[in-house]
Amino acid sequence: MTTSGPVKKDAHPFSREALEALLTRRFFYTRAFEIYGGVAGLYDYGPPGSALQANIIDFWRKHFIIEEEMLELDTTIMTLSDVLKTSGHVDKFTDWMVRDTKTGDVLRADHLVEGVLEARLKGDKEARGLKASAAPESDADKKKKRKKDVKSAAVQLPDALVAQYESILAQIDNYTGAQLGELIRTHAILNPDTGNEVGEPVEFNLMFESSIGPTGQIKGYLRPETAQGHFVNFARLLEFNYGRVPFASAQIGRSFRNEISPRAGLIRVREFTMAEIEHYVDPLNKRHARFDEAKDILVNLLPKDVQASGHTTLTKMTIGEAVAKKIVDNETLGYFLGRIYLFLTAIGIDPARLRFRQHMQNEMAHYAADCWDAEIQSSYGWVECVGCADRSAYDLSVHSKRTGQKLVVRQALPEPIVAERWTAEIEKKLFGPRFKKDAKAVEDGIMALDEQQLLKLKMDIANGPTPLKLADGREFEITSDLLTISKRVFKETVREFTPNVIEPSFGLGRIFYSLLEHVFWSRESDENRGVLSLPSAIAPIKALIVPISSNEQFTPVVRQISAQLRKAGISCRVDDSNASIGKRYARNDELGTPFGITIDFATVQNGTITLRERDTTDQRIGKIEQVVAVIIDLVEGTIDWTEACKRLPAYTGVQDVD
Ligand code: ATP
Ligand code: GLY
Repeated sequence: MTTSGPVKKDAHPFSREALEALLTRRFFYTRAFEIYGGVAGLYDYGPPGSALQANIIDFWRKHFIIEEEMLELDTTIMTLSDVLKTSGHVDKFTDWMVRDTKTGDVLRADHLVEGVLEARLKGDKEARGLKASAAPESDADKKKKRKKDVKSAAVQLPDALVAQYESILAQIDNYTGAQLGELIRTHAILNPDTGNEVGEPVEFNLMFESSIGPTGQIKGYLRPETAQGHFVNFARLLEFNYGRVPFASAQIGRSFRNEISPRAGLIRVREFTMAEIEHYVDPLNKRHARFDEAKDILVNLLPKDVQASGHTTLTKMTIGEAVAKKIVDNETLGYFLGRIYLFLTAIGIDPARLRFRQHMQNEMAHYAADCWDAEIQSSYGWVECVGCADRSAYDLSVHSKRTGQKLVVRQALPEPIVAERWTAEIEKKLFGPRFKKDAKAVEDGIMALDEQQLLKLKMDIANGPTPLKLADGREFEITSDLLTISKRVFKETVREFTPNVIEPSFGLGRIFYSLLEHVFWSRESDENRGVLSLPSAIAPIKALIVPISSNEQFTPVVRQISAQLRKAGISCRVDDSNASIGKRYARNDELGTPFGITIDFATVQNGTITLRERDTTDQRIGKIEQVVAVIIDLVEGTIDWTEACKRLPAYTGVQDVD
């Protein structure tokens, strides 16, 4: 008999334990170096995990790089320390860490405050007899948390304290180290693992340091983002794009962050794959030519002023309205929020559990002028999976200043502009003898000064010799006889500007894990029969071929069908093990395989095969060629299952495969 009709996917509550057991059993991923005891924050992906990640990346490349004609890059992971010093990462890419005063264990300060206050609020809800809302959490998790925080057992809190905790949590990303220390003291927050006090928050740099070459003289870091690889190549990218903006570069690759205490599976790891886009745009014109395609997309927004007032209420709004009301600053930023939404929902993220949260002032990375995170809700709460930042001209300006290379766009002006500017004219006769081999460097240093700096130098040298500091740190004394600084009239025919950068930055591991939570469910008939309803475009394997028995008569047809599917680029797998057909399908439901083909004696006699759809377990029948053609159309997305059912009649045979 075949089962059909609506599928009830919420018959059993979500269980993280059940999902994790499935992912381990089917080797989606595992702790790296497991047989040596493992290392926190490092994971290896197994065959279905690797295929799923590769398919997500493939979809991402089509959705962004190909659809938007982006310029793809593959730059080095090992990064020169100078580059990351200039970008600000050496000084500012830090998190706040606290130590257990007795054991010396380290914890991330904001996560400590967040975890403890959330647990206390849960305890309060339980004491009031209310169901804890927020993200679904397994019983074991709840127990673990309660056990960890001694004060969080079912204890009712005063109303004012509940409001205070909620307000702190709404702004948890906005606190400085000193403020986190204050919160820890005021609210008597202890290390939940030990019940001990923790010390003051200290800054910890998240980059892995290394050295390049045998002498160790060249300092390097494993990159914490792929972005700097784009910026240092900007001049070449611009030339490749015929000198015009807007355009975007894109890169998919590994990044590394020495996270303080990674405890949340794939959500917080120390090595992960990022997919980053750097979109270069004229700062005076941040409109987007394809904005119309994104303006009607309806998204959940959480703007910064709502969070600052201590709330997390979402506003549902179209991208067009959000940009018109200046909630989202400009069309380009809005366009990318829309494209991110389309990408995430197309791969299977539940739109109801997707929101865009704006960063608050203190939370923003050192380079960002505005930032919206795409956050996905899972059993870990709302987790940032894509950051979408307006990095303004920050990176290109600092690299240009440090290297003396111009990283600018030159645009012919429709009408020349006549303007007066302070300029320096060098006395070449004196310069050479005075500075010898350094003459060119000093001249370049003077020429790199902007008008304000020139004016200051003019006044300083009028009062006596003045030191000039070059970008490389060397200092030279400048005297008034060496140059003349005066106002000159220029006719400008070209406008020169540093483009602004809008950057959508995707963490693929977080998307991968959140997606698995969103597509996981258990059959109504049996809680232990898990299914991953992955869209066929990204499912690791698209079709399972199941001969009804190991009878040799089936071998040629199995070969024929798998060859036809492979030729069409559709990954398939033959399961001719001795397990019952029902078991074999159940195994593949856990792998998210959307379609199953059964081969039996009717195949040998009449050339017919049955096609099973994973979610409904519905079965259809047709000639081999017909079924293969339907599978190809289903995987390519040109038809859906309803359409497939119109092309293939229901299977009414006796064989019960489920
Ligand atoms: P968080 O505040 O959670 O540490 P972040 O603000 O540092 O994250 P970004 O610097 O914006 O994150 O990084 C861009 C993207 O890279 C994130 O949206 C996320 O998907 C991913 N990412 C960052 N850190 C990690 C990590 N430790 N493990 C997995 N993915 C990460
Ligand atoms: N490149 C953006 C980030 O790492 O946050």
